[in-house]
Amino acid sequence: MSKKRYVQVGLGGRSRMFTSAILGDFSSLAELVAICDTNQGRMDFFNRQITEGEHEAIPTYKADQFDRMIAEKKPDTVIVTTGPDATHSDYICRAMELGCDVVTEKPMTTDEVRCRKILETQKKTGRNVQVSFNYRYAPPRSQLKELIQAGEIGEVLSIDFAWLLNTSHGADYFRRWHRNRKNSGSLLVHKSTHHFDLVNWWIDDAPEEVFCHGTRKFYTPETAKQRGLEKHGERCLTCPVKEKCQFYLDITEGHFKDYYYDCEKEDGYFRDRCVFGEEIDIFDNMSVSVKYRRGAVLSYLLHAYSPYEGYRIAFNGTKGRLEHHACENTYISGDGTVPGELEKGNTSITLIREFSAPESIEVRTGTGGHGGGDPILLTDMFDPNAPADPLKRKAGTRDGAYSILIGVAAYHSIDQHKPINVDALLNGERL
Ligand SMILES: NC(=O)c1ccc[n+]([C@@H]2O[C@H](COP(=O)([O-])OP(=O)(O)OC[C@H]3O[C@@H](n4cnc5c(N)ncnc54)[C@H](O)[C@@H]3O)[C@@H](O)[C@H]2O)c1
Repeated sequence: MSKKRYVQVGLGGRSRMFTSAILGDFSSLAELVAICDTNQGRMDFFNRQITEGEHEAIPTYKADQFDRMIAEKKPDTVIVTTGPDATHSDYICRAMELGCDVVTEKPMTTDEVRCRKILETQKKTGRNVQVSFNYRYAPPRSQLKELIQAGEIGEVLSIDFAWLLNTSHGADYFRRWHRNRKNSGSLLVHKSTHHFDLVNWWIDDAPEEVFCHGTRKFYTPETAKQRGLEKHGERCLTCPVKEKCQFYLDITEGHFKDYYYDCEKEDGYFRDRCVFGEEIDIFDNMSVSVKYRRGAVLSYLLHAYSPYEGYRIAFNGTKGRLEHHACENTYISGDGTVPGELEKGNTSITLIREFSAPESIEVRTGTGGHGGGDPILLTDMFDPNAPADPLKRKAGTRDGAYSILIGVAAYHSIDQHKPINVDALLNGERL
């Protein structure tokens, strides 16, 4: 069987999950034929790393040579791992127009206009787009899907969902491009796309109406003042008060140095901007209410400054209640540790059938990034003979769209102080 040809756009921290899979476990099925980025330094770092091992350097193309790369390298599939998230849609659409399939990191995109363009381009070209929703694949989250799908609690009527980001990983979103809505769609899109996708998939329904309150009360200049940090700098590297700041990040060492510090002269991408900066315009408290087509209601909270990282969710059904809670290990994206690992012994699933005592369900575990989801996702992505999946975890543009449109509707709701209809964001179209 001939190998599938891949090119990858965006060679930052997250890109390695895909490149390592192609060069490693899936090298008999897949070939990385080129890489592309706005930053030559990050591509060169990648090539330095792989040529230290048994691999040859991969041809590099700057972002403005994307079309040339496709013409010369003739890939089957383009993998989009660029950040800012708002850059995804241009590559997703152009790749399809040039005859390629696409694998894209979440969020698929950041607003309704770009979302409609992706959907229209896919209709026109008939190409395949996979959105890499790794959270679905984490064993405990797949377990919840099995229990709900098996009808253990009947029809789900309501969901309470609270996600806590801590002052390590959560704070990190306020340091770089994520901190501005034009780049990330705010955490309501960048982060919550995972969570809204999980709910849409768990209950197998699509959102209809969204209302949201959002505030920024922690990552603010006022908080800096309260902590005696009012003389903070633009970034940690040159900050006059770094010695007394608990949010100080040193990017002159390890992975941060290779990926960011050594490459910043080329594009001015500072990885360590102050988490209390004036320019931040995303929320750190978000309270979202979603009504689904079949009538279920979701109450969702996202906080970005918690002392620990994790989540609690409860599904209330016509025949009982299902509760799940999990804590994640502390990490910062790109610090070289396994991201989003679930803490052992700190994850639970409880099933309470109607008129019955709570039943503790043994939680399945997995190893690897994002609660053990990353390695299973990769098999689904790169192995054409991956076993058929009764949980239907492979996600496409419909899933990508409805997961971001809840967040997009939520930020419009905050701006306009009113509920937002999700179909209206697609000009009345139902997917
Ligand atoms: N599924 C997950 O769990 C998960 C985890 C982390 C990140 N992500 C996603 O992965 C993506 C990348 O995140 P990251 O942390 O690696 O970001 P990053 O900032 O570390 O890297 C982004 C890369 O994209 C490049 N880039 C920027 N604009 C570009 C453009 N117009 N054309 C080509 N390249 C461009 C940058 O130079 C950089 O190399 C984001 O969309 C993020 O949401 C997903």
